[in-house]
Amino acid sequence: MLDKLNEIEKAALDSLQSVNDQAALDAWRVENIGRSSSLMQVFAELGKLSKEERPAVGAAANRVKVTLESALAERSEAVKTALLAKSLEEEQLDVTLPGRTIHRGRLHPSTQQLRHVLDILAEMGFQVYTSREVETDEMNFQLLNFPPHHPAREMQDTFFVQAGERGDNPILLRTQTSPGQIRAMREFAAMNPDNPPPIRIAVPGMCYRYEQITARSEIQFNQVEGLAVGTNITFSDLKGTLIEFAHRMFGQHARTRFRASYFPFTEPSAEMDVECFVCGGKGCQVCKKSGWLEILGCGMVHPVVLQNGGYDPTRYSGYAWGMGPERQLMLRYKIDDIRYFWGNDLRFLEQF
Ligand code: DAH
Repeated sequence: MLDKLNEIEKAALDSLQSVNDQAALDAWRVENIGRSSSLMQVFAELGKLSKEERPAVGAAANRVKVTLESALAERSEAVKTALLAKSLEEEQLDVTLPGRTIHRGRLHPSTQQLRHVLDILAEMGFQVYTSREVETDEMNFQLLNFPPHHPAREMQDTFFVQAGERGDNPILLRTQTSPGQIRAMREFAAMNPDNPPPIRIAVPGMCYRYEQITARSEIQFNQVEGLAVGTNITFSDLKGTLIEFAHRMFGQHARTRFRASYFPFTEPSAEMDVECFVCGGKGCQVCKKSGWLEILGCGMVHPVVLQNGGYDPTRYSGYAWGMGPERQLMLRYKIDDIRYFWGNDLRFLEQF
């Protein structure tokens, strides 16, 4: 009987070597440790053995059973591992892995704000007019009523570009979007020089100034210029338009005020403030205790500027303004340092 058990064990372990998949594992189990296997037969026949033989055969049969069971478990693990390795090799795609996150780009906060401003102005009837960033002294200053050496140039330190001997008309990076006024007026006037059409435009884009970079001033920033030219345009049209703009941008209840100011290309000139959103007008650090925040410069287009644009100042009048979208964003989100805009720090940019 003991010999028979040894044979059973040896045969079973031998045949297990060639078992390579789940079906074969199941068949092997039935065949070798199943109810009608030879091993189980031995258990069934223990009763027929003599008292002396029974304990040794019983113990040996149990040992074989345990050995076969653990051999099966081991083989089963090996088969599973081999199958997984094979499937990983064959099917490189593992659909159970978590997906890769897609990093979505976004528009720069300045661009977002610029578009927001233009959306509002478009609803109010202003057409976008793009003008160039590299300008001549004539366009950027002289035709806007800043003659060479005019003291108002002091306010706009300029990047001049070396471009040969151009005397009083050097090439420069525009310091303001205002030269877009001259370019637009000349373009529209050329359509019908005796009777130029009315104009209502917004000129967005980058401006450059030769500034020391600090928390409050940068060498580049965006502006949005507004210009309306036509007959019977008055200062109240200017105020009505800009107050409506402020309500659409900062909320229907935003309070505004105009202060007299000076620009060479407007007469009269003003600056517009909105009530400080941080303190609600009570006075704080952001508004420097005044309760008001300046958002733009504006005025009635100077007769000399209308003339330079091809519009007869005795027949036409107009208003204009220049505002800074980065400034508005800083006020809206309480951003305390303008250098974040061009510092390319993702921690800042990803907040918008
Ligand atoms: N160009 C001016 C600046 O950059 C801003 C400005 C003020 C524009 C008054 C205007 C205006 O059109 O009417 O400081």
